[in-house]
Amino acid sequence: MTSRLTAHRSASLAGTVRAPGDKSMSHRSMILGGMAAGVTEVEGLLEGDDVLATARAVQAFGAKVQRTGEGRWRIEGAGGFETPLSVIDCGNAGTGVRLLMGAAAGYSLTATFDGDGSLRKRPMKRVTAPLAQMGARFGWLAAEDRLPLTLTGGALTGGALKAIDYVQTVASAQVKSAILLAGLNAEGVTSVLEPEKSRDHTERMLRAFGAEVGVEAVGEGWKVTLKGGQPLTGTFVAVPGDPSSAAFPLAAGLIAPGSEVTVEGVMLNPLRTGLFDTWVEMGADLTVANRRQAGGEDVGDVTARFSRLKGVVVPEARAASMIDEYPILAATAAFADGVTVMRGVGEMRVKESDRISLMVEGLRACGVQVEEEPEGFIVTGGPVKGGATVHTAHDHRIAMSHLVLGLAADQPVSVDEPGMIATSFPGFVELMNRLGGRIG
Ligand code: S3P
Repeated sequence: MTSRLTAHRSASLAGTVRAPGDKSMSHRSMILGGMAAGVTEVEGLLEGDDVLATARAVQAFGAKVQRTGEGRWRIEGAGGFETPLSVIDCGNAGTGVRLLMGAAAGYSLTATFDGDGSLRKRPMKRVTAPLAQMGARFGWLAAEDRLPLTLTGGALTGGALKAIDYVQTVASAQVKSAILLAGLNAEGVTSVLEPEKSRDHTERMLRAFGAEVGVEAVGEGWKVTLKGGQPLTGTFVAVPGDPSSAAFPLAAGLIAPGSEVTVEGVMLNPLRTGLFDTWVEMGADLTVANRRQAGGEDVGDVTARFSRLKGVVVPEARAASMIDEYPILAATAAFADGVTVMRGVGEMRVKESDRISLMVEGLRACGVQVEEEPEGFIVTGGPVKGGATVHTAHDHRIAMSHLVLGLAADQPVSVDEPGMIATSFPGFVELMNRLGGRIG
């Protein structure tokens, strides 16, 4: 692993690139493919470390998983999971471990789940508590609410899982998805009520695999329902480009003077595009061309041109649709005129790192004025000095956000632990440099 990477102020960035495959959809295609009977062919899979860990897990649960070409994978599900022979190591991936636990909970098996140092610090009860209500059993091997843990599937604890009606206090697609995947093998109708709508890739993909999923609007959110006992059948999944990854080259296009950057094939599911809406409100010259459908999702080619941005108050209700994008939003807000207020984002503190505190620390080290709040932060734009080495706590998005900032800062910006970028964006440095960035 390289010990450090540095971004230097760059002349304008220009060109057209393709974003890596969507991480959320890539995890789900592996997991549903492993649960289904028959063959699933995936195209455009993100071959990042997080998804590769999920691929190994699905194989350990009994599916045949094979790479057939670049981004092309074939999964032959056994129609259910079996007890794995070794520990399921999910690496850095919160989505991987939480969805896999949900999937595994419905089968007759026991499995031990673990992850890297960062994943071992993240809360797991948000998923184990509802799964335990359904009848799965959990044993904490080190500390309560943390990995490593052992799961005993419902079918081994005295009968099939029982459906539940679950009401979320904070919208989380990971929690919703874990419950729905367990609900597939539960008796009765499982429902999850969300206060705001979170990304719906699990619901869409379940339908593509042949399951019926109900959705009913409730206030700002929705109630998702799924009847247990529905079989999944292998299918073809085309994974579009990840808007969360496309955000980095697009951000560089917005802040490096004279730039024009296009990212092709970006997924434009409205539950994932909160950042793009926010940038447009900030005055960004951001346009979408060639809108089309791919893999059951809206997709388009997004172009960002250098823009004089102005600070905005980001609506709190938008948080779920851009929860992973606040770090890169904050980096672009550092170059805006005025103040950008990001509140109602306490969930950022339990991602791959405490992203509020690390962004505050990193931006301040680069000479940016930032205020920290328990559930948010406020960035005041102005000249960005740079000239710092930023601590990333093994968090890929903290690293990429500061490297993009460094492309337009007065002095170079370095990050420690750049190896983690490969969890979501393999080839990030090469792609940015192809556009004219100077990262090395
Ligand atoms: C994800 C959901 C989000 C997001 C994560 C991916 C998913 O987490 O931060 O990177 O694929 O379901 P939460 O659902 O916990 O907010």
